[in-house]
Amino acid sequence: MNVHLTGRRQFSFLLATGLGLGVLSACTGGPPSSSASAGPPVPSRTVVPSPSTEPTPEVPPAATPTPSAAPAAGLPVQHSIADPESPWLVVNKSRPLAPADFRPADLRAPLISTAATGEAALLNSTTAQAAEAMFAAAAADGVGLVLASGFRSFETQRATYEGFVSSRGQADADTASARPGYSEHQTGWSFDLADDGGACSFQPCFADQPAAIWVAGNAARYGFIVRYPLMFHAITGYFYEPWHVRFVGSEAATAMRDGGIATLEEFLGLDAAPGYP
Ligand code: DAL
Ligand code: ZN
Repeated sequence: MNVHLTGRRQFSFLLATGLGLGVLSACTGGPPSSSASAGPPVPSRTVVPSPSTEPTPEVPPAATPTPSAAPAAGLPVQHSIADPESPWLVVNKSRPLAPADFRPADLRAPLISTAATGEAALLNSTTAQAAEAMFAAAAADGVGLVLASGFRSFETQRATYEGFVSSRGQADADTASARPGYSEHQTGWSFDLADDGGACSFQPCFADQPAAIWVAGNAARYGFIVRYPLMFHAITGYFYEPWHVRFVGSEAATAMRDGGIATLEEFLGLDAAPGYP
């Protein structure tokens, strides 16, 4: 029942927002662009063998359930939505990280094809393991996924955001780049993808590339969702980012996919976060 109600709400939302609305490019992994079609170049990548093609195990048990969160698509609330170390953490424009300068203790470089360097090549350990499994499965299907941008510290996110503000103005920047202390990239649970063909990185047309098509159909099995889906900016606060994936665990990701629930906010019964308070 919950799933059906949610699905209807999403349909109404799509009608209300208007399917003809333009979608702006939201380049987030590299230097900001003054043009909707100009994303950052993806540097040459390092290809390393991935150790496994098996789906990642479900997220480890832990986390204190958060009573204020609604049951999610028939699932009990299993993990905190406020703890930055929880796979069900929700960080958005009305839910800043606490502490603001949070940094995961278990960052590591996943053994995957990557175009990222330095801290951007890191993910938290659970996400790294899941990414290894997902990249290996995509490769087995003949699709080349590339890690374009992973972890960003508070200071790196500040520089990224300020770059967007300088080139595009604050209002436009806020549709594409999180303010420091408000980004999923700071948690290690999220990363940006590119296609090994290199086309359309950080542009809306990335959605038509093999990597994005494969991820849209298969990522849930490995615990990932596309966090900022098309036409849901009034809920998520950001325009479409088909390259930005977020680990929530395979049970939650498949429940969202099977229930037609597009956003983490809806899945967990949270308010929309279109702007900063
Ligand atoms: N592009 C996403 C919203 C970020 O900056 O975290
Ligand atoms: Zn991103």
